[in-house]
Amino acid sequence: MNCQKLLMAFAAILFSLSNFSTLASQPDSAYVFAYATTKNEAKNGLHFAWSVDKKQWNAIGPEERFMPSDYGRWGAEKRMYRPFLFQDNNKQWHCLFTVNDRDGVFAHAASADLVNWKPQDYPEVIQGNNCTELEAHYDPASGLYKVSWLSTKGGNTQAYEVSTKDFKNYSKPAPMATNKRLNSRVKVIISGSEESGTLKKVPWSIVDGLIKAHQLMAYNAQLAEESYHQDPVKFKDLKPVEVKVTADAGNSKQISDLLMGIFFEDINYAADGGLYAELVENRGFEYNLHDKLGRDPSWTSKKAWSLIGNDGTFAIDSVSPVHLNNKHYAVLQTSKIGTGLVNEGFNGIAVKKGETYNFSAFVRNPEKQRKNLLVRLTDQHGGVIGKTTIKANSPNWEKVKGVIIANNTIKDARLEIIPQATGSIALDMISLFPQNTFKGHSNGLRADLAQTVADLKPRFVRFPGGCVAHGDGIHNIYKWKNTIGPLEARKPDRNLWGYQQSFGLGFYEYFQYCEDIGATPVPVIAAGVPCQNSGTGGAGQQGGVPLEEMDEYIQDILDLIEYSNGDAKSTWGKKRAEAGHPKPFNLKYIGIGNEDLISDVFKERFAMIYKAIKEKHPEITVIGTVGPFSEGSDYREGWAFATELGVPVVDEHYYQSPGWFINNQDFYDKYDRSKSKVYLGEYASKGNALYNALSEAIYLTALERNGDVVEMASYAPLLAKEQFTQWGTDLIFFNNTEIKPTPSYEVQKLYGQYAGDMYINSDMAVSNNSDAVQKRIGVSVVRNSKSGDVFVRMVNLLPVEAKANLNLQGLAIGNQSGRQTVLSGQPGDKVATPVTTELKVGDNFDVTLPPYSFVLIQMNKAEKKSKK
Ligand code: AHR
Repeated sequence: MNCQKLLMAFAAILFSLSNFSTLASQPDSAYVFAYATTKNEAKNGLHFAWSVDKKQWNAIGPEERFMPSDYGRWGAEKRMYRPFLFQDNNKQWHCLFTVNDRDGVFAHAASADLVNWKPQDYPEVIQGNNCTELEAHYDPASGLYKVSWLSTKGGNTQAYEVSTKDFKNYSKPAPMATNKRLNSRVKVIISGSEESGTLKKVPWSIVDGLIKAHQLMAYNAQLAEESYHQDPVKFKDLKPVEVKVTADAGNSKQISDLLMGIFFEDINYAADGGLYAELVENRGFEYNLHDKLGRDPSWTSKKAWSLIGNDGTFAIDSVSPVHLNNKHYAVLQTSKIGTGLVNEGFNGIAVKKGETYNFSAFVRNPEKQRKNLLVRLTDQHGGVIGKTTIKANSPNWEKVKGVIIANNTIKDARLEIIPQATGSIALDMISLFPQNTFKGHSNGLRADLAQTVADLKPRFVRFPGGCVAHGDGIHNIYKWKNTIGPLEARKPDRNLWGYQQSFGLGFYEYFQYCEDIGATPVPVIAAGVPCQNSGTGGAGQQGGVPLEEMDEYIQDILDLIEYSNGDAKSTWGKKRAEAGHPKPFNLKYIGIGNEDLISDVFKERFAMIYKAIKEKHPEITVIGTVGPFSEGSDYREGWAFATELGVPVVDEHYYQSPGWFINNQDFYDKYDRSKSKVYLGEYASKGNALYNALSEAIYLTALERNGDVVEMASYAPLLAKEQFTQWGTDLIFFNNTEIKPTPSYEVQKLYGQYAGDMYINSDMAVSNNSDAVQKRIGVSVVRNSKSGDVFVRMVNLLPVEAKANLNLQGLAIGNQSGRQTVLSGQPGDKVATPVTTELKVGDNFDVTLPPYSFVLIQMNKAEKKSKK
């Protein structure tokens, strides 16, 4: 890619768009009008219009969103009503707005130029009422700023006022007379519509800045919208292109050997019903309405369970449970033999002929009468696929076990438990586990799925998320201690993606999996604040763990380090050893926070945690967080905060279109090498077609080029169970019997399996001068310094062939037989299979890149080859 040409094209467009603002005769000042509309359910954010005479108004954009509302849940909230713009005595702008008609908070954000806004905060100024029609002004008598609003609940309108000197701390609300308010909003006509908002006279440079910012945003949006659908027109007369790549062996740099990793989050049923091999759904009878916020009346302790036969009852009880963390259990009362409990599994139980399945359960038989349990797998017609009989005679909770060998392969078996004597019996933690798990661990992982993930050869595994890590409200923050130890003692919790986490796959299992696949564990712990899109806690937004509880919160994080790395005799190391792993797990990284709102609440807590880890465990690298996007207030403020604290690595997230990835290959070329390193913790181009995969592949060539600043990267999300997805773009789809890797998976695998740690600079000359053509061809050349092998990756995002000539003189490859792997097809293909063939390679050789293709060339170290 030729960055210089890209920049020149960009400058030309900006110049042509903005020559208006370079007119010789500009006004010294103009009026700026700030407003929001109720279009799109009031989710379009802050707009500006300008005028020189207060009569003729010019909308910028026409409705450019200069600041979105960040308040509340995605989808349901993020609304802005009636913004009020105010400039303080230090020329700082403040925007106050109403977020809904329910909560007693208002939103506040500050800006120096009206373009770049600081992260919003949401002071809760009144309880049990709302905050509408906000206003602010300076009160010279008190030297304070006054914020007033109307509370309108219950049909009464009452005005209130608070004072502040910094828009951070506010006095208690005082009632005031409505007519004492400024009522300074005005109405103007913009493009034929009457809008209400605030009007200020400003220097022309402010208006000019807004116009230019809009032009830039519009230009970027246009680039991001580019897709292969436009190719037939855009590249109508394009002939095959020629590409000359010249590697400069003397110009190489060390890059991260951790670049390619994975992001695991329990989203889309990735854990229970997915990677975690348990076959019984709701084994602990802990599902509850709250998991789905009451939206599904069937989501109760009985979910996935039913009664077989008519002569009995099935109830849920919680008196004297197996463990206090696992309160509910089933009580089965039968009056005729044949009646029992049946579990439907996670959309059916898939079993394979000849394979062995471990059954276990906790049972309590309060009656003197001896009882056997017939446990069997049946098909949908009642045919028996396998069975065992178990004694259940203890009046106290007892763990019972049995083994079932399947006599058939089916995908939708059911598990039946049928007491062989009438009466009552209590059952809990009813489990059916394949013996064939990944690496044969008990309580292990689904073998085929775990292997598919392992085939990516990830250098690290991030877990447990994502939003799952910081939760929906502070009570839902992921607590690693609830996920270790005996299964019956783990404390299930609501999964904010709308189901439940049993935590059968907990921190021990995550660490074990990392070890099994040779990946570095990267746990991510909430920064003492929940998800910024929380719908509960902190007045429906990001509130923090109370400061008086932060010591305990921080201790939990320090205990995690001991759990992983401590001696088997240490308090937490001992728990690891008891679980079966006396040797440490070798934790080196810990993520603190996940795309949080960089509020004061966040900063205070992050700084406390960061300081404690640095002091107690300087050997651990802390990864900070810089918000959910590649730009915007959290990104800017997060970076400024990380730079101030000297956080070694920050976690960036962005889900973008293929057009964005194609047009932003220079994103990290511009990064300051002296600041924090980057962990690109979540990224994906929206969609699962080949074109998406190729846009990621070309972006990955740029990540390799910037492997000195981007230390780690993980595509997200990793797993998605068909019919149970909450996120459309994922790396690997699966159901109970099949695994369906996406083209993006193939790209990740070709990078992961053939990773280098030395980047070899190369010049690329493309025969066609068009910028659009040039940025659709990508190359990176890396060497693995351990093996000496050299890998060349080339991407062709054009609808025509590219004939590449590679000059690798100086890399000492020698003439040899290398291999090329080609991933290609139609850009909209949802499945693509890489094809590997032999290729004569050497100092100078040719490669053909088919239209829409990713080509990996593998070359062994020359010496190794010549010894053979
Ligand atoms: O990857 C899915 C979600 O996207 C993650 O949970 C969250 O961090 C991001 O917004």
